[in-house]
Amino acid sequence: GKVAVLLGGTSAEREVSLMSGGAVLAALRAAGVDAHGFDPAELDLHILKEQGFVRAFITLHGRGGEDGTVQGMLELLKIPYTGSGVMASALAMDKWRTKMVWAACGLPTPRYAILNVDTDWDAVVADLGLPIFVKPVHEGSSMGATKVTEAGQLKAAWELAARFDDLVIAEEFISGAELTAPFLQERALPLIRIEAPGGNYDYQHKYFTDDTRYLCPCGLPPAQEQALQALIMKSAQVLGCRGWGRADLILTEDGRPYLLEMNTSPGMTGHSLVPMAARVAGMDFTQLCLAILEDARL
Ligand code: DAL
Ligand code: MG
Repeated sequence: GKVAVLLGGTSAEREVSLMSGGAVLAALRAAGVDAHGFDPAELDLHILKEQGFVRAFITLHGRGGEDGTVQGMLELLKIPYTGSGVMASALAMDKWRTKMVWAACGLPTPRYAILNVDTDWDAVVADLGLPIFVKPVHEGSSMGATKVTEAGQLKAAWELAARFDDLVIAEEFISGAELTAPFLQERALPLIRIEAPGGNYDYQHKYFTDDTRYLCPCGLPPAQEQALQALIMKSAQVLGCRGWGRADLILTEDGRPYLLEMNTSPGMTGHSLVPMAARVAGMDFTQLCLAILEDARL
């Protein structure tokens, strides 16, 4: 039956979603799937039913696509869709509440403060130390995020993040290796180690430059990688994630992991990480897309 690849959307990550969706659409078509691109920014999802779509492959990123809203619409339309359901999508889109759930479950995540007009900037610096990561609570791809290295920059970083979101979080900086951990059908894929120039894995280095190094296999001893994979699956389980996703974490030099965030609709662009890990696990991009699609549910 007909498959709708949902792409584009209205979030700040629209451009990334168009790249992800374009790649997925091409792969599914090449594999003989009757797939059609569908941009919820242009067309009402209601017509999916009228047009006879029987499944949806979600490659939307950010709000209005990765956050449970589109998932809820598809539930009501009774069109099975890829990835997490309404609750886990909404929860994982919220970096603050994700951290609260992880912390409540005893899973390690960096300390944080919520910033607003009443924030005592010096107190936040005294508490979290420097540097501090300032991020909009509901964004992806480092949109609106700043690594603050001097106390005097904190307020400006908050103002920038607040242009993207009415909730802004400040997180303590954890020094260590940047790792990402994709999973597929409730099983962990190999971890990827990310080495961006100057440790600055920002929007440009995520999608538009070729100077970020990706190590997969990540080089950790197998027992340590397995322990981290178990932690990732636990972090996904407590949020209620399903199908596929990707958690980002930092591993300190002395081997302590810190969970940063969960992505329930990870990038599928030419630079993206889930396809990289899948390849190391022996799956090409088409096989990965088919496996994600196969798992579509209500
Ligand atoms: N938010 C981007 C798409 C990612 O996590 O891959
Ligand atoms: Mg993210």
